[in-house]
Amino acid sequence: MARTRTTKKLAQRIDLNYFKRPTPLKRAKFWLSLLLPLLALVWIAWRGFSGDHRVYSSGRMSEAHAILEKECATCHVQQAGAFSARAADSACLACHDGPVHHPVSIVGRKELRCAECHTEHRGRVNISAASNQSCAECHSELGPNGGTSRYASNIRSFEDGHPEFTALRNRGDPYTVRLNHAIHMKPIRRGPTGPAVQLTCGDCHRPAAVPRPTAYSDASYVGAKVSYAESKGPVPSVAIPLIRRQPASGRELMTPVRFANACAGCHLLTFDSRFDLGVPHDEPEVVRAFLIKKFQEYIAAHPNELREVRDPNRDLTGKPLLPEFQVLTPAQWVAEHTSDAQELLWRKTCTQCHMLTYRFEGSLDTIPKLAPWLRSPKDSKFDQKPLPEILPALTTLRWMPHAKFDHSAHTGFTCVSCHVKALTSTESSDILLPGIATCQTCHAPGPDHAESRCFECHTYHDWSKRKEVTPRFTLPALRTGNGGH
Ligand code: HEC
Ligand code: HEC
Ligand code: HEC
Ligand code: HEC
Ligand code: HEC
Ligand code: HEC
Ligand code: HEC
Ligand code: HEC
Ligand code: HEC
Ligand code: HEC
Repeated sequence: MARTRTTKKLAQRIDLNYFKRPTPLKRAKFWLSLLLPLLALVWIAWRGFSGDHRVYSSGRMSEAHAILEKECATCHVQQAGAFSARAADSACLACHDGPVHHPVSIVGRKELRCAECHTEHRGRVNISAASNQSCAECHSELGPNGGTSRYASNIRSFEDGHPEFTALRNRGDPYTVRLNHAIHMKPIRRGPTGPAVQLTCGDCHRPAAVPRPTAYSDASYVGAKVSYAESKGPVPSVAIPLIRRQPASGRELMTPVRFANACAGCHLLTFDSRFDLGVPHDEPEVVRAFLIKKFQEYIAAHPNELREVRDPNRDLTGKPLLPEFQVLTPAQWVAEHTSDAQELLWRKTCTQCHMLTYRFEGSLDTIPKLAPWLRSPKDSKFDQKPLPEILPALTTLRWMPHAKFDHSAHTGFTCVSCHVKALTSTESSDILLPGIATCQTCHAPGPDHAESRCFECHTYHDWSKRKEVTPRFTLPALRTGNGGH
């Protein structure tokens, strides 16, 4: 006979008071629930008495402050004997300065506390990595209280409200030496008869800490002293940049391009077929003095050249033709050849790269491009041919003074990934720098991109205004007595 097994019958077999009966497991649970908090309390009290405050802390310290993990009071200054959950600015400043950024009064904002940007107890992180929010605190609205800022005033993040860089918004490159990047980036001849070569960016551009290029240099120019000031640039920037704490490595930026290192190997400054060498690459008066000296030495060594073949067409006055040969005095010979050489140099050689201007006696005006050889040589005013002047090169050393940029952090990328315009530019005045869109292809939020928070590219503290701090913190192991600060 089959037994009927209904749920009702089964339910009747269960003791409805089972949870009231004590079991060994339940007893253990009860005691544990009492004991564990008690243990924790005892431990906290014990750690507290032994001076280790880590237990109160909400997380581990940053890398820089890891050594302070047990030294709560260095930041949390006791107020009236009580622990303050706030870290006082004065505590931070007792160990190292955090100099001002910019005076906030002009834009109607108030200064932030150190801890609002340098938050602690977030684990072994870089506490200099301030959040976008901490910068946006002011930069999302610079000047709300009637003040005005010289800078873009609605920046919330690099993606939201950040302006295009000034160098790309404003003027062109003020550099005065002519250079056509496009023709120099295609295969090009090395001198009039030389083989075709392919120049690379590094044949002209190098950071300061890297030796200057040599492939197209000329040793006689590299070694030479020049009379002009080599750093007449940069064009003074509008504002003074904030100074970083770390010293520069010399690999951040490229140094100005020098004729001696990057051009002389192809662009020769030769002046006369009698000589292999070229004139010095220097101010015109130095060049003229060099020419006079060279021709004087030459004619002293070759006096037979004073007998010259005259150009029979020269005298058009109808007088009987002069003898076919003429003997010049050495002074005449030198004057004539110096003059011819100058004409070639000023008119063709130097003007390929430079703007030459002339300043005439009695006039303070500079008359550009008015060459004296266009004037009649009989005009007494121009007997003493004036020397041209070469405009200063005006190399811009820092294009983005309000940000920090470091080429050496980007050495894995080709130059044209950022300076693509260098391949097509035909004028020195073109700006070849990357704009914000180029940076944003890599510097963007998310794990598969490079850092895009403000601190990556900007300095906050102006370390030129730093105050020296007298150290007060002693290694715990060296302290006498207990807990002494
Ligand atoms: C290098 C400085 C520094 C040291 C050392 C330090 N703290 Fe902090 N602590 C901070 C900063 C910064 C904050 C952020 C609060 C603020 O805005 O001031 C903070 C916040 C706190 C808070 C509030 C909760 C929070 O996370 O905001 C507690 C609790 C705390 N700290 C406990 C401790 C204890 C306990 C120790 C020692 C074991 C300690 N701190 C050591 C800098 C420090
Ligand atoms: C007991 C001394 C001491 C106190 C107090 C202290 N620091 Fe430091 N801090 C250091 C030392 C040591 C370093 C590491 C060396 C250095 O970079 O100067 C450091 C480094 C830093 C750095 C640089 C981190 C990096 O990028 O390398 C920042 C930012 C900083 N502290 C901020 C603060 C702030 C904010 C406070 C106050 C909440 C504070 N510190 C309190 C000693 C201290
Ligand atoms: C608005 C945010 C902000 C405030 C407020 C702030 N800092 Fe900084 N701090 C930064 C940023 C961003 C950096 C990293 C960039 C730099 O070097 O300027 C930094 C860097 C530092 C450094 C390390 C510099 C280095 O290059 O190693 C120290 C030390 C420091 N701050 C201390 C302080 C102290 C002390 C205070 C308070 C008096 C303070 N900071 C207030 C944002 C801030
Ligand atoms: C307490 C307000 C305040 C905070 C916070 C602040 N700034 Fe500024 N910032 C200013 C003021 C004021 C100026 C100057 C405005 C002027 O001269 O017109 C300025 C100017 C600048 C400039 C342009 C001038 C220069 O020095 O290069 C940059 C870049 C800059 N801040 C970056 C930052 C970054 C990055 C942060 C966050 C780490 C930050 N700021 C946080 C107030 C602030
Ligand atoms: C990937 C690099 C990068 C990041 C990230 C970045 N900036 Fe900039 N920022 C620049 C460059 C480059 C300039 C141009 C500097 C110059 O022209 O001198 C600039 C210019 C500025 C200027 C001057 C603007 C003007 O009117 O000329 C301010 C202010 C500024 N940034 C604030 C910020 C703030 C705030 C953040 C974070 C929300 C930020 N930047 C993030 C690279 C960056
Ligand atoms: C034959 C020499 C030469 C070569 C090769 C050369 N440059 Fe230049 N470059 C110059 C000279 C000269 C200047 C003018 C200096 C200045 O404006 O600061 C210049 C200026 C620049 C500037 C800054 C000026 C501006 O207007 O933006 C950038 C950026 C630049 N070059 C990038 C490049 C890149 C990238 C390459 C390779 C694809 C390259 N150059 C190849 C000679 C050269
Ligand atoms: C590898 C050899 C080489 C080097 C290095 C070189 N150049 Fe040239 N450059 C030439 C040749 C060849 C020409 C003539 C190209 C033509 O007319 O097709 C030329 C032409 C020029 C022109 C005239 C361009 C035009 O638009 O007609 C200028 C200006 C110039 N170079 C400047 C420079 C400067 C400045 C440097 C150094 C920073 C330099 N070059 C380095 C080979 C070179
Ligand atoms: C192939 C191009 C090229 C030719 C040709 C050339 N230069 Fe230059 N020159 C440069 C470059 C590049 C600079 C910038 C930096 C440097 O080399 O010192 C310069 C700078 C100068 C300067 C300094 C300007 C300043 O900043 O004050 C003088 C002076 C000068 N050159 C004179 C001459 C004279 C004179 C000639 C003709 C004999 C000449 N140069 C021919 C490329 C050239
Ligand atoms: C990640 C983008 C990037 C790459 C890659 C890059 N540059 Fe630049 N370059 C810049 C920026 C941004 C500036 C403006 C820096 C400043 O002056 O503030 C600059 C400036 C320059 C200048 C002007 C002088 C100076 O340093 O300010 C020259 C010349 C130059 N770069 C050449 C090169 C050469 C050559 C390479 C390859 C070896 C290269 N760059 C690679 C972004 C880049
Ligand atoms: C092809 C990708 C790429 C582009 C484009 C690029 N960056 Fe970067 N940048 C990086 C990477 C990757 C790093 C991290 C390198 C490191 O710290 O080792 C970096 C680091 C930096 C740093 C920190 C350097 C340091 O001191 O550690 C600055 C500042 C910076 N970039 C500015 C810029 C600016 C401004 C632009 C645009 C003109 C730009 N970058 C364009 C990839 C890029």
